[in-house]
Amino acid sequence: MCGIIGYIGDRQAAPIILSGLRKLEYRGYDSAGMAVICDGKMQSEKTVGKLVELENATDEGTKIQGKMGIGHTRWATHGAPTVQNSHPHFSQDGKFAVVHNGIIENYLELRKMLTEAGFTFVSDTDTEVVPQLLQHFYNGDMFETVSKVVGMLRGAYALGIISTHDPDRIYAVRKGSPLIVGLGDGANFIASDIPAILSRTRRVYLLEEGEFAILSKDKVDIVDADKKVIHKQVYEVDWDVDAAQKDGYEYYMLKEIMEQPRAMKDTMGPRLNGNDVVMSELSMPESYYKNLSKIFIVACGSAYHVGLVGKYVLEDLARVPVEVDLASEFRYRNPIIQPGDLVIIISQSGETLDTLEALRDAKKQGARILSIVNVKGSSIARESDDVLYTHAGPEIAVATTKAYSTQMDILFLLGLYLARVRGQITSAQEQELVEELKTIPDKVQAFLKDVSGLEKLAKQHKSVRDVFFIGRGIDYAIALEGSLKLKEISYIHSEAYAAGELKHGTISLIEDGTLVIALATQQKLFEKTLSNIKEVKSRGATVIAVVMEGHTEVEKEADVTIYIPKTMEVFAGALEVIPLQVLAYYISYHKGLDVDKPRNLAKSVTVE
Ligand code: F6R
Repeated sequence: MCGIIGYIGDRQAAPIILSGLRKLEYRGYDSAGMAVICDGKMQSEKTVGKLVELENATDEGTKIQGKMGIGHTRWATHGAPTVQNSHPHFSQDGKFAVVHNGIIENYLELRKMLTEAGFTFVSDTDTEVVPQLLQHFYNGDMFETVSKVVGMLRGAYALGIISTHDPDRIYAVRKGSPLIVGLGDGANFIASDIPAILSRTRRVYLLEEGEFAILSKDKVDIVDADKKVIHKQVYEVDWDVDAAQKDGYEYYMLKEIMEQPRAMKDTMGPRLNGNDVVMSELSMPESYYKNLSKIFIVACGSAYHVGLVGKYVLEDLARVPVEVDLASEFRYRNPIIQPGDLVIIISQSGETLDTLEALRDAKKQGARILSIVNVKGSSIARESDDVLYTHAGPEIAVATTKAYSTQMDILFLLGLYLARVRGQITSAQEQELVEELKTIPDKVQAFLKDVSGLEKLAKQHKSVRDVFFIGRGIDYAIALEGSLKLKEISYIHSEAYAAGELKHGTISLIEDGTLVIALATQQKLFEKTLSNIKEVKSRGATVIAVVMEGHTEVEKEADVTIYIPKTMEVFAGALEVIPLQVLAYYISYHKGLDVDKPRNLAKSVTVE
C-alpha cells in the first residue's frame, strides 16, 4: 500500500507520474515504480528507496515515452521492500499492469488456483494475483474482465489497471481503500490522495465503495460492476496542498484517529478465515505454543501500554503467565529467561533502540522473538524469529493512535489463537469471540461519526492543571495510555492510577476541581470503580466517566458520562481508548499547540 497516481492525456506521462508521486512522499514509502504504454507496448521502471532513484533511472521520466500510465509508491506489507515486490505488478504475458493499495485477503487461495493453472509469480505480494487473474480471465472485453476479477477479490483495494489490450483507457476501482479521479483539460487522472493531482486539477470524483472508473483522455465514466452508469457530483477541492495531504484534517493525528476502523480491518482481516483465527505467519508448530510456560512482552511508551492490555487478554483467554516490561528496564534488570521462552516485542517503528537492544539480549539468552511491528523490514522485524505486522499504514503524528489500536488487535488475535491451541476455549467460544471482535472496527467507526461532544468537553477542560485517569484491569491499562496521550500533546500534568491504589497515597492530591477521568467498562469491577468515583467526588473532583452503553447508573455520580458501544469486556480497550485519543487531540488543538509535533519528542526514538 501507499500512493497511487495514473495519467492519461496528450503529454508525456512519466514526468507527470513522477511529480504526482513526489506529492505523495509525505505518506512514507520504501520503493516506487511506474508502467506506461507507448505504441501498444508496456514499459516500466521500478526502484527501491527514495523517489530520486526512480527519477534517476528514468532521467526524470524523459526516458519513458507514452501518454498514459500508472505509478505507485509502496510501503511494504506483504514481502520485503524489493524491486520484485514494488508496484506496478504485471501479468505473466506483460500485457496487464496493476497498482494497488489495501490488502487482498484471499490472495493465497487465488495464487494457488493460478499456480495450478500454470502461472508463475515473481513477487511475495498479494497484489500480483490481480494482473495474473486479468490475463487468465481476459475475454476480449476489458471492462467485463476487470469486473469479473474484482468480484473474486476479498479485502480492501484501490486498483489502477492498464493493459496493452486497451491502450487508450485506465481502469480503476475501489473498495475500502480511497481512490479519486481527477478531471483535467484533455487529460484525466487517478490518485489515492488529492495532493497527487492538486497542481493539475481541482475537479475530482471521490469514488465510493464498489465504483469503477473508466478513463480516456477526454472522458471519464463512473460505473457499477455491471457497467451501469453512475451520475456523480464533481467535487471542487478548495483546500491547499498541506490540508489535502491530511485529507482535509488540520492535523495528521485526527486523520489517523479517523483511519482506525480501516486500519483495524486491514490488520485483522487477513488473519481471519470466517470465524477462525489463522496465524500462518508463525513458524513454530502449535505444540510450541501449547507448552509455553511464560511469555514476556517488552516495549516502550504506548507500545508498552498495549502490552499491558495484552497481559490481561493473554492471561485471561489463554491462561499463560505474561510478564510485561519496559524495554529500558528489561535490558538492565537481568531477567530470568529460559531457553524457548517467548518474548513478544511491540514497536510501531521497529527502530526504537531500547526495544531493539532488549530483543537482542533476550535472543542471546535463547528466547524466541515474536514481534508486532508496523514498519516492514525495520531492524526489529529483521532480527525477530517471527513478525506479525500491523497494517496501520504509515503513522505520521508523533502521538500514536492507529498503530496502538492495531497492535491491540494483534494481541486479541494472538490471545484467541493461544487459547485455542492450549485448549482453553472451545471452538464455539472462539466463534463467538471472533464474531464480536469482527464488529469492533464498525463500532469504532460509529463512535467516531460524531465527536463534537468530545470537542466541547475538551474546550471546557483545556486549562486544567492536573488530570488523573483511573481504572481497574484492562481499564487501568487504557488509563495509562489515555494519560500519556494527554500529557504528551497538551503538556497538562496527568497520571494514571489503578483505581484501587488511589487510597494508598494519591487521593491526597484530589481537591476541588481536580479532573478525574474514570474508566469503568469491566463488569466484574464496575461496582468497585464506582466506589472510587464516589471517593474522589466527595473530595471535590470533577469526574468524566467512560462506560459501556447501558450503564446509566454512573450518571448519578459522574459529572459527564461518555458511553462506548457495548462489547465483550475483553475487547473493551479497543473502544474506550478512542474517546481518550479524541479528548487529548482536541485539548491540544484548542490550546493552540502543534498537535502532530509535540515539543521534545521524536517519532522514532533511536537513542537511549
Ligand atoms: C506515544 C508514542 C510513544 C511510542 C514509543 C515506542 O504516543 O508514540 O510512546 O509508543 O516511543 O515507539 P515504537 O512503537 O516505535 O517502538
